[in-house]
Parts: sequence; C-alpha cells; structure tokens
Amino acid sequence: MKGVFFKILLLLAVGTGVYFIFFHSKYENIQPLTNSWEKVVPLQEVPDGLNSLSAKECGACHQQHYEEWKFSTHSHAWTDPQFQAELKKESSPFMCINCHIPLQNQQEFIVEGLIDGDIYQPVIKANPHFDRELQQEGINCASCHVRNNAVIGPTGTTKAPHKTIKDPDFLSESLCISCHNAVAEVSPTLACSFETGDEWKEGPYANDKNCISCHMEEVEREIVPGFGNRKSHYHYFAGSGIPKFDSLETKAMSGLGIYPSELKEAYSQGDSILFKLKIKNEFAGHKVPTGDPERFYLISYTLKNDLDTIIYSTEDRIGEHWEWYPTVKKIADNNLLPNEERYFNFSYLVNKKGDYKLAVEVTKHRLNKEAAEYNKLTNHYPLSIPVFDEEYLIRVK
Ligand code: HEC
Ligand code: HEC
Ligand code: HEC
Ligand code: HEC
Ligand code: HEC
Repeated sequence: MKGVFFKILLLLAVGTGVYFIFFHSKYENIQPLTNSWEKVVPLQEVPDGLNSLSAKECGACHQQHYEEWKFSTHSHAWTDPQFQAELKKESSPFMCINCHIPLQNQQEFIVEGLIDGDIYQPVIKANPHFDRELQQEGINCASCHVRNNAVIGPTGTTKAPHKTIKDPDFLSESLCISCHNAVAEVSPTLACSFETGDEWKEGPYANDKNCISCHMEEVEREIVPGFGNRKSHYHYFAGSGIPKFDSLETKAMSGLGIYPSELKEAYSQGDSILFKLKIKNEFAGHKVPTGDPERFYLISYTLKNDLDTIIYSTEDRIGEHWEWYPTVKKIADNNLLPNEERYFNFSYLVNKKGDYKLAVEVTKHRLNKEAAEYNKLTNHYPLSIPVFDEEYLIRVK
C-alpha cells in the first residue's frame, strides 16, 4: 500500500514540477555540475543603454544583422520541431537545452546540482527571471555578445550607445566550438556526438581558416545606418541549407565538389554502361556531413528504358551508422574528411537496343524517414535537399 501511494505521489509530482524538490529533502548527496554542457551562461542583466536582451531590441539598430540572423538555424534552435519532439522524450535530460537556449534568462528552472551526480535527477528551482519571449529566440545576439552585463564587440572602437567590452578572443572560433563539439555518453542509450571542432583542429584548415572565416563571411558595410562603413560579418550562419520549416528559406553552403564522368555517345548491345561520379569534400573545414550523427548524403542511380520503366537502380550513402539498443555505439563512419575524394561507380550491361535514361541524383539529408516518423514530424519538416540532379540520354544500337 505504501508503495502504491509513493508512486502516485511521484507521478503527480512529475506533472507539477515539484518532483525534484520532493527528493531534495530526502537525499543529501547533491553534486555540482561539472561538464561544460551541464552549465548555462549565468543570468545577464540588460547592459546599460539597452532595454532588453532580445534580438528584436538589437535589431532596432543593427537591422541587417537581425535580418540575417533570422534566416539562421541559430534563431530556430528552440522552435525547431525536431528539437521540441526530442525534448519531450524521457531519455532527454535537462542539459539538452543548454546549447539551444544558452542563457539562464531563457530557462524556466535553475539547476543547482545533481542528486548522486545523476544527470536525470537535477535539483531545480524556479527561475524568477525567466523570460519566455527570449527563450523563443534560441541562440540570439545576446547568447554570443552579452557577458558580465555588457555587449562584447570585436573592436571596442565604436561609439555604441550601449556598454561595450572589447574581446576578440571571446568572439573567436572557441565560442563556436563550445557548442559545436561535445562527445559524451549521457546514458547507455543516449550519446552526444558532435565533433566539428575536433575535425577542424585535426584537419588541413586549422592554421588557415576557421568557423568564423568560412561561416561568417567578411563584408564592408555600416553596422548601424549612418555610422559609416567598417569591417563587418554576415550573420546568416549558412550551413547545410536544409531548412527547419517548409515555409522558410535558409542560406546554404556546399562542401562538395561533384564531378560527373563523360558518357559515351552510343553503345552497342552487350556493352556496359559505365558512369563515375567523383565527390570531393572540397570546401568544408571538417567532415561532410558533420555534427549530428543522423545526417547523411545519398547518391542514387536510376536507369529507365524508353517506356520510362525503371530497369535498374542503385544507391550509396555517406554518413554514420549507429546502433542505439541495447547500448549506444557507433558502428561505421564514412563521412568525407576535408579534401578527401571518393568515386561512386555505375555499371550496367545492356542487351537490348533502344533509348535509355540514366538519372544521377545526390541528396543531403537531415534525418531518415523512420526517425522523422518516430518523432511524429510532419510534411512541413523538410528532411532533405537536392545537391546534384542530372539525367543522361543513352542510345543503344
Ligand atoms: C539604440 C541602438 C542600438 C541598439 C539597440 C544596439 N546597438 Fe549595438 N551598436 C550601436 C551603435 C551605434 C554601434 C556603433 C556603430 C559604429 O560605430 O559603427 C554599436 C556597436 C555594436 C557592436 C560592435 C562593438 C565593438 O566595439 O566592436 C556590437 C557587437 C553590438 N553593437 C552588438 C549589439 C547587440 C548584441 C545588441 C543587443 C543586445 C545591440 N548591439 C543593440 C547601436 C545599438
Ligand atoms: C574551410 C571552410 C570551413 C571551415 C573552416 C568550417 N566550416 Fe563548417 N561548413 C563549411 C561548408 C562548405 C559546409 C557545408 C557542408 C555541406 O555541403 O553540407 C559546412 C557545414 C557546417 C555545418 C552544417 C552541418 C552539415 O553537415 O552540413 C556546421 C554545423 C558547421 N559547418 C560548423 C562549423 C564549425 C563549428 C566550424 C569551426 C570548428 C566550421 N564549421 C569550420 C565550411 C567550413
Ligand atoms: C553564434 C554567435 C553569434 C550570434 C548569434 C550573433 N553574433 Fe554578432 N558576431 C559574432 C562574432 C563571432 C562576431 C565577430 C566576428 C569577427 O570580428 O571576427 C560578431 C560581430 C558582430 C558585430 C560587429 C560587426 C561585424 O559585423 O563584424 C555586430 C554589430 C554584431 N555581431 C551584432 C549581432 C547582432 C545584432 C546579432 C543578433 C541579431 C548577432 N550579432 C548575433 C557572433 C555572433
Ligand atoms: C550556444 C551554442 C552555440 C554557439 C555558441 C554556436 N552555435 Fe552554431 N548551432 C548551435 C545549435 C544548437 C545549432 C542547431 C540548431 C538546430 O538545428 O535546432 C547550430 C547550428 C549552426 C549551423 C547550421 C547547421 C545547419 O544545419 O545548417 C552553423 C553553420 C553554425 N551553427 C555555425 C556556428 C558558428 C560559425 C558559430 C560561432 C560563431 C556557432 N555556430 C556558435 C549552437 C551553437
Ligand atoms: C554541447 C551543446 C549541445 C547540447 C548539450 C545539445 N545539443 Fe542539440 N545541437 C547542438 C549543435 C551544435 C547542433 C547543430 C549540429 C549540426 O548541425 O551539425 C545541434 C542540433 C540539434 C538538433 C537538430 C539536428 C539536425 O540535424 O538539424 C536536434 C534535434 C538536437 N540538437 C537535439 C538535442 C537533444 C535532444 C539534446 C539532449 C540530448 C541536445 N540536442 C543537446 C548542440 C548541442
């Protein structure tokens, strides 16, 4: 009877959020947060000269930065339907939100420690300064620019109406890497595996180009209208280019050089149709794909006859393979290293005269259909975009 009562209390408590407080008094072994991704950016006050920490506020003066940032995945890091779906899962611990809404001001609760060091048992209390509107903005201007209640800028030479601190070291690739690199086994069936920072450090660009020089292109312009041109950077944070909503455009970067081979003009019966596609990671400073282990590329060949019937098709994949049960494990990874090239070959022996069509397609995917269905993501969540699409006519005499 006591057991049943205990369980009911627990269930009720989970719904109302008092669960942790309930345990708080029972256990004394509360351990501090140790890993960087367990911690948030401490509560920030609005820097002198400003009225709020929101991107909209910054955008009132820095209009172009704001318009660009709105295109970026950063501005959707919270509203992202896939993120929201995953957050609801029991296997997703509290720390999931720390890189997606990094400021304490954006989080409903303050995490004070972990019972027995267990990531699934945070000790929390309500955050009196929680700002729900700020939360919607995901990784906003203040995430990267506000610390110690001041705006951090690269030069400190501007005549800004807000309190400004010059800190080019802070506004460097190490800021990006603080979120874009995390390797941890959170639980037996949950792993964080983002290694973009390490891939870059170990790659050929480490002394030449970094996250910022590639993803925040330099431009000479006014950063506030009327203040004169100066060195500036686009804030689109262009990346994979797979949008988060079907109604939304994003800026895309392409890492791959794709080189199709020539096809013979005419074939004879008994010949093999041979075709090669060379794919090279020519422009990315890290693997392609990088980051989320669910991303992949598909290279597909479809051969059709003159009745438009598919007579042969093959598919290759660039990406990682993971096993999630019973314990999480990376099984394979054939992502392309910087400058690595690979050939994808097609060969088919034709024994019938006629006209054929060979469709060659390369697509970039955020996640596969099964995972999308599992997360109940609708048709409004784009899963892939085309990056190469050609059809070749082949005559067999
Ligand atoms: C009321 C207008 C206004 C608002 C609001 C505003 N800024 Fe500024 N900011 C300026 C002006 C003006 C400059 C200096 C422009 C110049 O000299 O070219 C500036 C400069 C900057 C710089 C460069 C600093 C340096 O020294 O390198 C950064 C970064 C910056 N602002 C970020 C922000 C962020 C982030 C927000 C929102 C939290 C914000 N600003 C809100 C007007 C504003
Ligand atoms: C030499 C230029 C270059 C450098 C340096 C670089 N990137 Fe990229 N990055 C790219 C290109 C190009 C793509 C597009 C890849 C593609 O085709 O999907 C990309 C894609 C991405 C993506 C999207 C993931 C994907 O698979 O498409 C993320 C996230 C990213 N980069 C983060 C970073 C971070 C963080 C750093 C610094 C550690 C960095 N990049 C350094 C060029 C670069
Ligand atoms: C993901 C981090 C990040 C976010 C989000 C971000 N910025 Fe920046 N911003 C940077 C970095 C890094 C630089 C410095 C680049 C350099 O000088 O190498 C910068 C530079 C600036 C500058 C100086 C001029 C320039 O263009 O280089 C201004 C102004 C600025 N940002 C405003 C904003 C505003 C306004 C927002 C929100 C709409 C915003 N930033 C969002 C990282 C960010
Ligand atoms: C506070 C953590 C954080 C910081 C700091 C940060 N990022 Fe991100 N970034 C994210 C998250 C989270 C996403 C993905 C959001 C989503 O998909 O829901 C993302 C997405 C991206 C993408 C788009 C990936 C795609 O799918 O196309 C690029 C490119 C990128 N970041 C580059 C950068 C660069 C460059 C910097 C440094 C100037 C930086 N980021 C700093 C957390 C961060
Ligand atoms: C260390 C920082 C960090 C933490 C902690 C974190 N994320 Fe992310 N998350 C990122 C970055 C960076 C990206 C963008 C990766 C990329 O595009 O390469 C991202 C992207 C995503 C995406 C979009 C994937 C896509 O392909 O566009 C989802 C969904 C997501 N994260 C869910 C989660 C969940 C669930 C957790 C907790 C288990 C979590 N994140 C914890 C940094 C983090």
